[in-house]
Amino acid sequence: MSEPAIRLAILGLGTVASGVVRILNGPNSPVSCRAGRSFEIRHVAVRDTSRPREVEVPVNSLTTDWLAAVSDPEVDVVLELMGGTTIAREAVLAAIATGKHVITANKALLAEHGNEVFAAARKAEVCVAYEAAVAGGIPIIAAVGRSMTGNRIVSIEAILNGTSNFILSEMLGKHRQYEDVLAEAQALGYAEADPAMDVDGTDAAQKLILLTQLALGKKVELKDFPRQGIDTLELADMLYAEELGYRVKLLAVARVVGQQLEMHVEPTLLRRERAIAQTDGALNIVELEGDAVGHLVMAGAGAGQMPTASAVVSDLVDVAIGRAQQTFPQLNLWQDDSGLTVMSADQIQRRYFLRFNVEDRPRVIAEVADILGRNQISLASIIQHEAPEVDASENGGVPIVPLVIMTHRTTEGSIRAAEASLAQLSTVRAPHVRMAVAD
Ligand code: HSE
Repeated sequence: MSEPAIRLAILGLGTVASGVVRILNGPNSPVSCRAGRSFEIRHVAVRDTSRPREVEVPVNSLTTDWLAAVSDPEVDVVLELMGGTTIAREAVLAAIATGKHVITANKALLAEHGNEVFAAARKAEVCVAYEAAVAGGIPIIAAVGRSMTGNRIVSIEAILNGTSNFILSEMLGKHRQYEDVLAEAQALGYAEADPAMDVDGTDAAQKLILLTQLALGKKVELKDFPRQGIDTLELADMLYAEELGYRVKLLAVARVVGQQLEMHVEPTLLRRERAIAQTDGALNIVELEGDAVGHLVMAGAGAGQMPTASAVVSDLVDVAIGRAQQTFPQLNLWQDDSGLTVMSADQIQRRYFLRFNVEDRPRVIAEVADILGRNQISLASIIQHEAPEVDASENGGVPIVPLVIMTHRTTEGSIRAAEASLAQLSTVRAPHVRMAVAD
């Protein structure tokens, strides 16, 4: 190899960074051959240099001085794999300011500070590559940014959080407790350092923001669209969904409807026969629709050490051969030139799954149906399982039973208005569960 080695500063040596080192150090690794250059790890910036590490890095490369690492004029590329949005932001901006290309897996950083980061990179004529930030090992950024450029993309439906998908699959398949499965997802390296972002829908929403920016040219912020996680979901509702022929998934959607962009991340019922409903464990899946190519589906490991490292290394090869430097300026990242406006939550139209806990007494279903009807909501099916015959006078109260309703297509605004009225009924008790249905 006649070309000089590419010199790296790696920020962080956690799960993903260790996977990257493992690939680069691997015997017979094809990476250098594909890049036409070898890679030299100059610096690895960590919080504590004395901690035992799962991979070997060059002697004296470990440092706590991330600023010196990114500013070293002998470094060509900075791999930001520390996560977070404070030091990571400063480090990425410092790397760009000193002329380094940056590779990052940090969707929180790009979703929050993409504006600043991409503008700085364009100005400094360096590139920021982020394949690992969306859908783990699935090469979705390359597919959208490079291979679908002949299309106007009109729809994205995706499972983008491996931790949530793993939890849902284990809860449904093995009836395991939420907390146990979450602890296992952390042990397996799927979850973020703070897993709250995984289970409350934030991580998936950040990835959807990045994908929407790239695919639809629309800059959207977290506050602009509805987001709900799986942290409040009950197994009972997943089982009712199964009974109705559906599976519950944390679904991320961005869809062009006229001049508007419908966007949301929520637990959603999907027909069981759909590929997206059958995507289990820590897998992710992205279904795209382009006006020329039609439907396109990509699935694979969405979380975990080696799949995410695979995406980081693909960016590294792209930078080494100069491809990323050519495509980055053309991607128009974080410029808003789509002409789309984000649809308000109330206007979103779809079917809904509703569950109420109701008193098992005369007229209750009639009252619920009446309120839904007065809000122009038509019922598609109702489940109320037979409750035991109880004598209220002997038991000191009326039994409470779950009432599950599938609606026909309606708006989120109508559902919210109906829910406000239903909350006034003394016969309808909390919790009220509402989930979207994707047809
Ligand atoms: N914590 C993420 C997930 C993986 O569970 O999907 C990294 O994006």
